[in-house]
Amino acid sequence: MEPTSVIRLVLLGPPGAGKGTQADLLSARFRVPHISTGDMLRAEIGRGSELGCEAKAFMDRGELVPDQLMLGVVRERLAKADCERGFVLDGFPRSVPQANGLDAVDFAGVGALRVLSLLVPAAELVRRLAGRRTCRACGAMFHVAFEPPTKDGVCDRCGGALYQRDDDREDIIHARLDVYRKETEPLLAFYRARGLLTEIDGTGSTAEVSARLASALEVSH
Ligand code: AP5
Repeated sequence: MEPTSVIRLVLLGPPGAGKGTQADLLSARFRVPHISTGDMLRAEIGRGSELGCEAKAFMDRGELVPDQLMLGVVRERLAKADCERGFVLDGFPRSVPQANGLDAVDFAGVGALRVLSLLVPAAELVRRLAGRRTCRACGAMFHVAFEPPTKDGVCDRCGGALYQRDDDREDIIHARLDVYRKETEPLLAFYRARGLLTEIDGTGSTAEVSARLASALEVSH
């Protein structure tokens, strides 16, 4: 696949599987937007919007924000001009109703959807999430052990302050993993049955996972 063709990617995987990290790299490689529904919701919370206030209670408990709300947000985002050549969706769909909603979006028949699911053992997910630090200013991600910033608490990319997400507390991490198993894992069968799913080993370094994704997408790495 060439960086110039239309590409519509969905990254699936449990919390901490590396969807955001890899979506960033894929977005840069294919020059299409990285659409993270989690980031969009956190931005709404930051703005204090009605949607943000509604979403926050669900997110703080590690639960899914209701499908109808999410479908509205994503439809509106996908209709923007920058999605014409495609997108990398990270964190959506997360339930069968959301996947049906995505199926119903009219892409004028251009470019097939590819679904890549990252597989990572649960113990590793907990380690990744508990150590994650995110830049408040630019959203860059670090990990206290695996990808530590050069200076404690300071973003290497922009110098912004790093923070720990509220839902990265260990009790909430377990609630999010349970929600993933119940609500999102059924999407693997959903997309496998349509012949759209490729499962990728999400363990190892960021570069190793990125190389596996590139192989699955048949691009040079
Ligand atoms: P969201 O923000 O989407 O969170 P998530 O799916 O739980 O995923 P994460 O962002 O926690 O993990 P990730 O897989 O992106 O991993 P990352 O690359 O960050 O959603 C948050 C909440 O919003 C949900 O709980 C829900 O309430 C709501 N929401 C969002 N979308 C919704 C929807 N569609 N419907 C309903 N509700 C919705 O990596 C994690 C850490 O690991 C980082 O520190 C990173 O540096 C490190 N890392 C990454 N790759 C590696 C590697 N290969 N080796 C070592 N460390 C690594």
